[in-house]
Amino acid sequence: MISKKMTGTLNRQVNAELYAAYLYLAISAEADHKGLKGAANWFFAQAQEETTHAQRIATYLQRVGEKVVLESIPKPPAAFKSMKAMFEAALTHERKVTAMIRAIVNQALAEKDHATANEMQWFVAEQVEEEENVNDILAQIELADKAPGALFMIDKELATRVFTPPAPAE
Ligand code: FEO
Repeated sequence: MISKKMTGTLNRQVNAELYAAYLYLAISAEADHKGLKGAANWFFAQAQEETTHAQRIATYLQRVGEKVVLESIPKPPAAFKSMKAMFEAALTHERKVTAMIRAIVNQALAEKDHATANEMQWFVAEQVEEEENVNDILAQIELADKAPGALFMIDKELATRVFTPPAPAE
């Protein structure tokens, strides 16, 4: 059993993860439109991954006997002027999500809700990975600024990402 307040918090996180999926779909669409097929592929895979995050929290709510309530998803931005701007938007968003996850863990600890604190540890680790991945790509893009043609190679590399669903929660 978890508190009503925690149920509200987790339902808001379901919404935030679905917004992340929506944002990355929007970036994917813009990347495709600009001919950046690799970036489009990378963001499409990331959108799929975000959907699994929403699903994971929704499943947890159901396992502890609470109802999942879906709210509307805000409209994401549609224009990103460059590949760099796309990944900068992703990093800004991931940092925001990291702060949200940290706040949930803090709330869980304050409520002595060890089940939720434990469940959220997966997300704590996941956020380290998500920020790291985006930071690494941004570093490559910055280097590419000084090497003509390098952006093309980065886009080719981004085209190789294949979405693999994370292992289900135990
Ligand atoms: Fe679900 Fe990228 O955080």
